[in-house]
Amino acid sequence: MAGITDSRFLNKVIPYGFDVATLGGYSLDIPTIEASKKIIERGRKEFDFPLDEIFTHISNEADSIKKVHSDVKVSANVRSTTSQPIIEVGNIKNLDIVEINCHCRQDEILAIGCGQEMLCRPDLSDFISQVVDNVKSEVSVKIRANVEGIDTLKIARQIEDAGADYLHIDAMKKGVFEADWELLTEICNNVNNIKVIGNNSVDSEENVKKMIDTGVDGFSIARSLISGKLNFTITNF
Ligand SMILES: Cc1cc2nc3c(=O)[nH]c(=O)nc-3n(C[C@H](O)[C@H](O)[C@H](O)COP(=O)(O)O)c2cc1C
Repeated sequence: MAGITDSRFLNKVIPYGFDVATLGGYSLDIPTIEASKKIIERGRKEFDFPLDEIFTHISNEADSIKKVHSDVKVSANVRSTTSQPIIEVGNIKNLDIVEINCHCRQDEILAIGCGQEMLCRPDLSDFISQVVDNVKSEVSVKIRANVEGIDTLKIARQIEDAGADYLHIDAMKKGVFEADWELLTEICNNVNNIKVIGNNSVDSEENVKKMIDTGVDGFSIARSLISGKLNFTITNF
């Protein structure tokens, strides 16, 4: 979560039972860094690092987690208008996963064709393949479900075909306060060569069970962690 999930935060919450910890989201090129600054100006939290510091910063943050939790995979969620800076992050020592952010819906990020707007890019497959083919880390693509005008299952298959290791899907459904369990089930039943990480509304043991029943390979938790409301340990499941 932008501006929140740094190594200090993640080192505190990993003992709940997480086996992957995601740093970021970080902005990696001039357009996304400028967009982040505008977001900060209107009062929303963002990580704010200049271009000449961001890659060293991510590397140091990954090291800070590995020093304490050597058995946990460290991921970095990143935004960039081109693939090259993402490739640079995917080759950072001690970073296990680079996650391409096709999820952010802040206006400033959408205006430069990034975040959720990536799902409309005609070159999305090439963008992902370029990253996959040139990094030592695994590659995750984080998407939002049910984006207007986007067929989520089609996009999931496209990301699978582009060679990503993980599809991290925020299964948000408009007007509903729970994840779109049906859509997650449909996606899990229709992809074979990519691990599906379900996300959205995992804030109770009941919803963990619903999430697992969709067939996902794993799941992630955001808001109930930052609000301090996580009242169960993931290792119970
Ligand atoms: C304050 C805040 C910041 C977030 N920043 C990011 C981000 O930088 N990158 C990202 O992929 N998702 C980001 N998210 C989305 C969450 O990772 C997650 O997908 C979403 O909150 C749904 O999951 P949840 O129901 O477990 O919170 C953010 C969410 C919140 C509330």
